[in-house]
Amino acid sequence: MTAPTVKPMTEPSAPTANPMASAILGTYKRAPVEFVRGSGVHLYDAEGKAYLDFVAGIAVNALGYDDAGLKAAMHAAVDGLIHTSNLYSTSPGEQLAAALVSKSFADKVFFCNSGAEANEGAFKFARRWARTLGDAKHEIIALRGAFHGRLFGTLAATDRPAYRLPFRPLVPGVSIFERDLAELDAALSEDTVAALIVEPVQGEGGVRVLDHGFLRELRALTTSRNIALILDEIQCGFGRTGTLFAYEQAGIVPDMVTLAKPIAGGLPMGAILMTEEIASAIAYGDHGTTFGGGPFVASVALHVVERLSDPAMLAHVRETGAWFGRQLHEIAQRTGRIRQVRGTGFIWGIDVMGTAAHVVSEALTRGLLVCSAGDYTVRMLPPLVATREELARGLAILEEIL
Ligand SMILES: Cc1ncc(COP(=O)(O)O)c(C=O)c1O
Repeated sequence: MTAPTVKPMTEPSAPTANPMASAILGTYKRAPVEFVRGSGVHLYDAEGKAYLDFVAGIAVNALGYDDAGLKAAMHAAVDGLIHTSNLYSTSPGEQLAAALVSKSFADKVFFCNSGAEANEGAFKFARRWARTLGDAKHEIIALRGAFHGRLFGTLAATDRPAYRLPFRPLVPGVSIFERDLAELDAALSEDTVAALIVEPVQGEGGVRVLDHGFLRELRALTTSRNIALILDEIQCGFGRTGTLFAYEQAGIVPDMVTLAKPIAGGLPMGAILMTEEIASAIAYGDHGTTFGGGPFVASVALHVVERLSDPAMLAHVRETGAWFGRQLHEIAQRTGRIRQVRGTGFIWGIDVMGTAAHVVSEALTRGLLVCSAGDYTVRMLPPLVATREELARGLAILEEIL
């Protein structure tokens, strides 16, 4: 390691898409564009060029940009308390937890600040609970194609060799198995396994919608062996599949659900929903976070929860999402450039003939934002408020590229 040198004082450079000129650590290969404002389903660059946004902040901006209701909720939240720490209760946090409990299977909620943090917490809660059943019960099992985050515990449950290898050794007691019932049946030992974590729709792993029958089998297996079933709905939850929670469609009741991305309208927030059985194993001091569920972010999330659980919004996602999928299949037929179409609601992936990166960058040039999920999958996560006309415009650009 070379010794750090004293740097001469310089003026901070203007924001730039040139990574060499940025003071931000280069963990993301950023697109050569800088957005300065947004409205509805569009982002705008400094020259006023509009971009139709099918990325939505990677499934965060469910209400699009500059939403009047969300802005009003944020303005109102500014006038209230911003932060007090979790040493004290605040009304917005209590109300938000009560709202989530009333709309889900859960009895208790733990708030945190991100998706990875929610999954890390869920792993800890699962182990804490499982140890009440047997001292050897500690393993966490995840599925092939999974993405659960980039922190140490979640990285061990994330099936991306490139993300994992540089950081070995990973956390022990976390393993990945095929999405195969026979293999999972053999792996899910009642004596050693604490939890199975599953994304009902694998997002980063290529937009793979897990079969509802498969989810029900996993629920039956885990229930019969006293293994906690954690559903990671960080990307697919909160309305994106057309029901507030994706698990509702499979007709199962999980032990824990992790949430993040859209729940506070773009402010950082994560949550772990859990049953009374899991909650009763957790004691004071077992887990914590300085910021989680603070009054500012919780006030905003209360607004988002109400908006995204509106039956009209959910029906729009179901109906328009099904239409969107049909359009993608038709584009596949017409162009012959799509190997497979996968998705549901407002989360779709297409496997393209060339690289996904090529389509992503061509789309950007033409004013459409899409992202990749692996080397060959182009992923689309439009804001849930997008209309059929807006989606059709994006699809026309996509077809042109293909
Ligand atoms: C399913 C899923 N789980 C966990 C995470 C991690 O969330 P965060 O980036 O907020 O840590 C993501 C992020 O993309 C995700 O899609």
